[in-house]
Amino acid sequence: MSVVNRLLKTALPLTPKFIVRFFAKRYVAGDSLEDAVNTVRRLMGEGCCATVDVLGEAVRNPELAAQAVAAYREVLATIIERKLDANISVKPTQMGLGIGEDLALSNLRQVVAEAARLGIFVRIDMEDATTTEATLRMYKALRQEFSNVGVVLQARLRRTLSDARNLGQEGTNVRLCKGIYLEPRAIAYEEPEIIRWAFVHALEALFSGKGYVAIATHDEWLIEQALALAEKMGVPKERFEFQMLLGVDPALRRIIVSAGHKLRVYVPFGSHWYPYSVRRLRENPNIIRAGLEAFFRR
Ligand code: FDA
Repeated sequence: MSVVNRLLKTALPLTPKFIVRFFAKRYVAGDSLEDAVNTVRRLMGEGCCATVDVLGEAVRNPELAAQAVAAYREVLATIIERKLDANISVKPTQMGLGIGEDLALSNLRQVVAEAARLGIFVRIDMEDATTTEATLRMYKALRQEFSNVGVVLQARLRRTLSDARNLGQEGTNVRLCKGIYLEPRAIAYEEPEIIRWAFVHALEALFSGKGYVAIATHDEWLIEQALALAEKMGVPKERFEFQMLLGVDPALRRIIVSAGHKLRVYVPFGSHWYPYSVRRLRENPNIIRAGLEAFFRR
């Protein structure tokens, strides 16, 4: 990473909110559900489907967790009313995991039950490693009651190959990603090349299992590896999809869609856009750099 990029990464948390918003708006559909609906409609016009995320995390007040449940109910009703090709993604700490696992599970159950009634799938996002065990426990508890729920594995974590084997055998619907949270070396790989290979190995374990796999990456090398692996292992197109984040590499999105693969875009919306945006910008400071260059060249 260049010195400029390193400086940008360090300075980001100190940057005023309005500047973060200026650079981050490409990653977020907008503040309102209507903004998300318009974005999903546009993506559907490009041959994609979506997973809608109500922005919010690290909730410390049960009232706020209840508001998040209500917001998801509204999203679910809107998906049906507006005939959107979309499911939803939910963060455990937004459901109250930071307050207590029982509360988070009870809130998640309400969301999953309502989604089940409407025939919509729910993805439980994976947050930092302090939440992994609880998230998998909650997923397993919900899976006993409902079939419309799946979880996420992060290739970065050393435990993931074993989780992928177990969940794959159980037929879980897994989203596999690299993992965005920086974790201690004792539990996570740090080198990008090792994370890439860990992704390939976890994917192989999932393909060997019985479940559906969502391959969430913008890394073209990994997409190529995934396609080669699927062909080698005889995994049909109907057993996997690709997933990408809103605002990241639309050209690659088009390439995947025109090759006939299912492509789902993660569409976050809402007023709690700041932590999500900071993570995205930290991941790719080139965006800030390109933005600043364009700004000063005007
Ligand atoms: P990598 O970071 O190497 O990026 C590959 C290329 O993509 C880069 O060269 C760059 O061109 C482009 N790119 C990547 N990120 C960019 C950005 N922010 N802005 C602009 N360009 C960018 N993580 C997690 O811990 N828990 C989760 O639940 C999820 N959920 C999730 C859902 C979906 C649909 C996606 C696509 C990703 C996630 N992630 C996630 C995030 C994931 O773990 C990872 O941090 C990002 O996808 C970036 O990793 P890549 O595999 O894309 O590779």
